[in-house]
Amino acid sequence: MSKKKKNRIQLVKGMKDILPDEQLYWNIIRKKIDNFARNYGFFRIDTPIVEFTNLFKRTVGEDTDVVSKEMYSFVSQGGDKLSLRPENTASIVRSYIEHGMLNLPQPVKLFYVGPQFRHDNPQAGRYRQFWQFGFEAIGDNDPIIDAQLIAISYYLLKELGLDIEVQVNSVGDVNSRNEYIKVLKKYYQDNKKFLCKDCNLRFNKNTLRLLDCKNKKCQELGNDAPQMVDYLSEEGKEHFMSVLEYLDELDIKYTLNPKIVRGLDYYTRTAWEIFDCSSKDGKLNALGGGGRYDDLVESLGGRPTPAVGFAVGIERVVMKMQEAKVPVSKGRGCDIYVAQLGVEARKKSIRLFEELRANGFSVSENMSKKGLKDQLESADKKRAKYTLIMGQKEISDDTILIRDMESGVQEIVDYKKIKMEIKKRLDKHLAKNLKLKK
Ligand code: HAM
Repeated sequence: MSKKKKNRIQLVKGMKDILPDEQLYWNIIRKKIDNFARNYGFFRIDTPIVEFTNLFKRTVGEDTDVVSKEMYSFVSQGGDKLSLRPENTASIVRSYIEHGMLNLPQPVKLFYVGPQFRHDNPQAGRYRQFWQFGFEAIGDNDPIIDAQLIAISYYLLKELGLDIEVQVNSVGDVNSRNEYIKVLKKYYQDNKKFLCKDCNLRFNKNTLRLLDCKNKKCQELGNDAPQMVDYLSEEGKEHFMSVLEYLDELDIKYTLNPKIVRGLDYYTRTAWEIFDCSSKDGKLNALGGGGRYDDLVESLGGRPTPAVGFAVGIERVVMKMQEAKVPVSKGRGCDIYVAQLGVEARKKSIRLFEELRANGFSVSENMSKKGLKDQLESADKKRAKYTLIMGQKEISDDTILIRDMESGVQEIVDYKKIKMEIKKRLDKHLAKNLKLKK
C-alpha cells in the first residue's frame, strides 16, 4: 500500500455515510413517522446516546448477544462504566421513571428517531452504527394497544411502498415462560448433538434463542420443538387471542410464527417482527420488531407498569425502498432563480436574494457562476418558474429582467416593484395550474 493511501483516514468499519441522494428517502421516512405520531398521539423523546452499562445489562440482559458481544462499552475519565446505547427502549423506560411520567395520564406514548450502536458483523443492511425509529406506549395493559402498535409498524412501512408481512407470537409471562423453557430444554437435551456450536453455548443461559438460530440443522430441530402458545396461562392466551382478533379487524397481513422469541430479554407476551416479502435472496432480514415488556419498568425500580413498543431499522427500510424503486422527488424545486452578470450586479443580487428569501419567496441561486448560460441551466434543473436577471444595463436603469422559464419570454420591470411583480406572476401561475387540474 502506498504511503499516501496508508495516511488517508477512512470510514470506520461498519459505519455508513448517508449522502444527499439517499437523504431523499430519509426525508420521506421522517415525514411519515411525524405524520403517524401526530395521528396516533405519540410525542417525540430524545435520550442521550451514552448510558450506564448496567442499564442495558439489567434490561436487555447480560446473556444476550447484544450485551455480551456487541456493546461499545468504556470507562469514562471519571471512572463510570458507560456504553453507547445498543437500542432505545431501556433508555426510554429509565427516562419515564426518572421524570415521574407515571404521574401523567397513561399510557404515555413516545416516539424516537436516532442512532444505535452494535459491534455486529457488518454486511448488507447490518451496520455498527444504525438508525432506528420506534414507538413506545407505557402504562397500559389492553391488547388493543398491542394491536395498534403492530398496526403503526405495519401501515407505516406499507405506506412507504414496501411489501411486508408481520410475524407474531406470544412469549408469555415470566411464570408460563419458565415452565415452557423447562420443556424446551428437555426437547433440545435429547438432540444436543445436532445443535451448532453457538446453540450449545446458548443452551443453558438463553434456551429460547435456540428457536431462532439461522443454522439449517438447528432450524430443522426448531420446526418440531414444543411451542410457547401451548404453555400460555389462561389470561395470556386470552390476551393473545384478542390481539389477533384486532389484527383481523384491521386487515393486517400476519402469520403466526412460534419461533419469534426476539433477541432481548425484556419481552413478555406479544412479540412480533416485520419482514420484507420481496427479499430476492430468500433471506428475510427483519425490518423491525417489538413486543410487550410488562416487567421492565419494575425491574428498573419503578412501580409495576405494563408497556409495549417496537423499533424499525431505517437503513434497512431505505435499502428496501431503493430495491422496490419507490419514487422519490429529485432535488428541491424553487419559484424564483436569481441570476447575475458583472461585479456590481453580483453585489446587488446577493442582497436581493436575501430580501426575497426573508420575505418568504422560494428562491435559489448559483452566485459563484459567472456566465448566464450556466445560471439558466441551473435554474432549469431547479425547475424555477421565473428567473430574475440582472446585468450592467439593469443596474444603470434600476430595472431587472423577469424570464418566464416555460415560455422563455423576458420582460423588463422596475427594480423597486420587483416583489409585487413576482407575486402577481406567481398568483397567475397558480390560478392557471388550478384551472388545468379542474
Ligand atoms: P431489535 O429487533 O433489536 O429491537 O431491532 C429493531 C430493528 O433494528 C431490527 O429489526 C433491524 O431492522 C434494526 N437493526 C438491528 N440491528 C441492526 C444493525 N446492526 N444494523 C442495521 N439495522 C439493525 C429493538 O431494538 C427493540 N428496542 C425494539 C423494541 C422497542 N421493543 C420494544 N420497543
